[in-house]
Amino acid sequence: MRLLSLSCESFRNLKQVKVTPSPRTTIAVGENGQGKTNLLEALYYLATLKPLRANTLKELVQFGAGRARVEGRWLLNGAERDIAVEVSHGTRTAFVDGKRAASVEAYFGGVSVVAFTPDDLAVVKGGPEGRRSFLDRSVFNRFPAYLQESREYAKALKSRNRLLKEDAPHSHLTVWDETLARVGARLLVRRRALLAEVAGRAQTAFAHIGRIDARATFLYEPSHLEVDFSTASEGDLHLALAKALEQRLARDVERGHTTVGPHVDDLDLALGDHAARQYASQGQSRALVIAWKVAEIENLKATNGFLPMLLLDDVSSELDPERNAFLMQYLAESGAQTLLTTTDAALVRRAAGAETTWLSVKAGAVSPTSV
Ligand SMILES: Nc1ncnc2c1ncn2[C@@H]1O[C@H](COP(=O)(O)OP(=O)(O)OP(=O)(O)O)[C@@H](O)[C@H]1O
Ligand SMILES: [Mg+2]
Repeated sequence: MRLLSLSCESFRNLKQVKVTPSPRTTIAVGENGQGKTNLLEALYYLATLKPLRANTLKELVQFGAGRARVEGRWLLNGAERDIAVEVSHGTRTAFVDGKRAASVEAYFGGVSVVAFTPDDLAVVKGGPEGRRSFLDRSVFNRFPAYLQESREYAKALKSRNRLLKEDAPHSHLTVWDETLARVGARLLVRRRALLAEVAGRAQTAFAHIGRIDARATFLYEPSHLEVDFSTASEGDLHLALAKALEQRLARDVERGHTTVGPHVDDLDLALGDHAARQYASQGQSRALVIAWKVAEIENLKATNGFLPMLLLDDVSSELDPERNAFLMQYLAESGAQTLLTTTDAALVRRAAGAETTWLSVKAGAVSPTSV
């Protein structure tokens, strides 16, 4: 899989941008606020249909413009494929080879990217919500159908929560329980499958990066379910969720929101016997995140048969020299097609090679440069 060209139109501050990336490393350099993250975000949105940081799609459209558009030409299994996404009036439309995509699966068609941002580096110490979305991005990368499944769940959850807040009759509320239990069980199974593939690899990667004796563990276990999660079938989880929703109804009514389901669970990270959130140092926390990303990339390579494209947004400036050197070395050796952004070319030079394309980003314009 390879990105052959990328163009953006009225995407945030990128008015008209066309980029021909290197088959290996492309490095976008620019001062603060020039549009580096916007460029990376445009590519991430194209490849995943998930905003990297926006809360609303409207944010993606350039101030004063009616529509944002991102288009990319990819080489996939020997064939060229063009995908494009447009955002206007708060909704998105996806295109494959110029025609509206029939489904999101048809749209993705094997395109795979892994992003790594400074926000990721903060997940260990942050709240559960950040870890959930960190985990969910990995689950989505592995199982693209997860995008629709988690949307279906989120919609049902929103409806149930609204009714809880309105003090609606219980019979109205429980209409949503069936969807939440069924789709919730699917989300749990997806997360479990991802953990089963990635956790061991991440532990091994951490042993290389961490330079810490403690073993890293990555654990996901749903809360409030009366079931053995390691062996439960999807049907068992469906039943367990339905039961928990029913049992917790009075509490949910009192709290005004749904208190059980994949939307309240956490990804537990530990070093030895200690929760990383409370006890890991900043450097150790970052090493955990790097280990996870490396594991995710290696896992996608094993399961898809090719490497995902890697997008790193100014990560080097957040890392100590030793861990940055590890990461840059990994990128240089991985063979993956990579887009890096940075304010300081010196920090990422180690990831660069003969085939590197250097780009300069200035006031929303992107042009080839040499460094
Ligand atoms: N919808 C939008 N329309 C126009 N400009 C926007 C929009 N959204 C964000 N911007 C502008 O984009 C700029 C930020 O771009 P970006 O986040 O890509 O910067 P950056 O180069 O990554 O900077 P840093 O090095 O600080 O991370 C800001 O000036 C912001 O006002
Ligand atoms: Mg940025």
